Amino acid sequence: MLIAIDGPAASGKGTLGKRIAGHLGLAHLDTGLLYRAVGAACLAIGKLDDEAASVAAAHALDVSTLDPETLRTGEIGEAASVVAARPEVRAALIDLQRRFAARPEGAVLDGRDIGTVICPDATVKLFVTATPEVRAERRYKELSARDPFASYEAVLADIHKRDARDSNRAAAPLLKADDAVLLDTSALGIEESFAAALAIVERAR
Ligand code: C5P
Repeated sequence: MLIAIDGPAASGKGTLGKRIAGHLGLAHLDTGLLYRAVGAACLAIGKLDDEAASVAAAHALDVSTLDPETLRTGEIGEAASVVAARPEVRAALIDLQRRFAARPEGAVLDGRDIGTVICPDATVKLFVTATPEVRAERRYKELSARDPFASYEAVLADIHKRDARDSNRAAAPLLKADDAVLLDTSALGIEESFAAALAIVERAR
């Protein structure tokens, strides 16, 4: 049972991936964290514009040290989408993702190119989306709990920018696989989204 979940920034694919994996007793990989770790490593040494440095960071990536808490910031998301547009960075991260996906019992992976590039033979492919405004609202709520200066407008602008970069890049752009099921969560709460996603997964079993 290999489940591929793709979608734009803040679409809820990570939350759904985690819930589905927990429900089915499968391991879950949020592949955005890999690109975030590479982006963060480049930011830390002031070399976000240096392609070779980002490729080296991708090769040196140690998945056991990924810390979602520190990696899920707007600045690191932006850096992640810069390094993720580089084909050599993507190539350096393919094996790791495919090895994760090859677990005998199956797995859940979420990202931008799981159904199209990483796991084209997945049992089920979900493409989770929501309008940019709904996604910004969700991300803003999350952020403002930690940061009193968070701004909805800034979050929305960031989402538009990241959508454009992720969709228009030449290397593995954000794309719904032909055989992926579209799940628009704009009008759904988390429980309804989970129920809808689970129904799609159960149908494919
Ligand atoms: O999903 P998340 O917002 O954590 O991803 C951060 C960035 O990493 C995305 O904007 C995208 O550019 C990149 N990414 C990717 N391919 C994936 C997962 C994430 O290009 N499979």
